Amino acid sequence: MADLSTTYMGLKLKSPIIAGSSGLMNSLENLKQFEEAGAGAVVLKSIFEEQIQLETQKFIKSGDENAQQWNNTFQGIVNSQSHYYDEALEYINNFAKEHTLDQYLDFIREAKKNLTIPVIASIHCVSNYDWSYFAKRIQDAGADALELNVYVLPSDFNRSGVENEQVYFDIIEAVKKQVTIPISLKIGYYFSSIVNTVQKLSETGVSALVMFNRPYNPDIDINNLKLTSNYLLSNPEEYARTLRWVAILSGKLKCDIAASSGIHSFEPVVKQLLAGATVIQVASVIYIHGIDHIRQLVSGLNGWMDEHKYACISDFRGKLNQQNIENPAVYERVQFMKLYSKIE
Ligand SMILES: Cc1cc2nc3c(=O)[nH]c(=O)nc-3n(C[C@H](O)[C@H](O)[C@H](O)COP(=O)(O)O)c2cc1C
Repeated sequence: MADLSTTYMGLKLKSPIIAGSSGLMNSLENLKQFEEAGAGAVVLKSIFEEQIQLETQKFIKSGDENAQQWNNTFQGIVNSQSHYYDEALEYINNFAKEHTLDQYLDFIREAKKNLTIPVIASIHCVSNYDWSYFAKRIQDAGADALELNVYVLPSDFNRSGVENEQVYFDIIEAVKKQVTIPISLKIGYYFSSIVNTVQKLSETGVSALVMFNRPYNPDIDINNLKLTSNYLLSNPEEYARTLRWVAILSGKLKCDIAASSGIHSFEPVVKQLLAGATVIQVASVIYIHGIDHIRQLVSGLNGWMDEHKYACISDFRGKLNQQNIENPAVYERVQFMKLYSKIE
């Protein structure tokens, strides 16, 4: 049996397969099953920045002296992001009925009591407006690490690429002031120069970059002329997009890489590790096949390592990243030229 253990964000994992953040990560029973099935760590369902702000607003109404200062900031958010704010507020109001911040912290404590694998909490955020104090509460509740899913869709005509990208750096700076536990940053693809920005992000003191979160894509129902959202779960072809960037960035960053999106079977797990990923995160495939699917990913990886006589993951991690292959151009435009020129 090969040794699947690895280190991610300084945490010791028994396998490189992590159960990524999703609605399935809200239940202690599920978390235990993930551990039993062989997951190396679990990432809890995200708490939203707006939820934290909403709770803070309640605190303001309670008359605390810091209230006025916070209220000004909150008003700033409403003004600057009003196009999405109403909808977000409605969603969070509903969500907050069941999931308050205290419940989230209790859940971290419960998870820590019941699991031996690392528990990574998660915050979904779009700004650094006055919510970062909650990161400290997450740390105090016992989380082993904190994943920040920063979701900046560059759809604001008034914001430049530089301004959009600055948000990531501001968030890391604010959160790093609050905590000493490792922080990972979950990012999307929308950067004007992805490798340059990602490299700089890796130098901010984050312990890992999770590449990539999967943007929600709208769709149109042409029969009812309505907007829909059909593609909640990824499909198995999507892993290739992550693969390219993992391979190009591997060996060039000052932090670990968690590969995410479209990883549904053990083969792309192996591919991402060969490209240089430290760990793999999975979410959609668990909705499709159930928590036990983790066993198949783990045993598939194990079988492949045995077959190729690799005793441990570091024996092959990054072997096929861009800097280790003979023709680095295959990860770039030349591949496209070759492929398309064959098709008449
Ligand atoms: C139903 C569902 C809920 C999700 N909720 C969260 C979340 O709360 N926070 C987060 O960072 N990612 C969330 N994700 C995104 C996943 O963690 C993951 O980044 C994305 O789905 C791509 O990976 P996959 O192809 O393995 O699903 C969610 C995904 C799904 C399908």
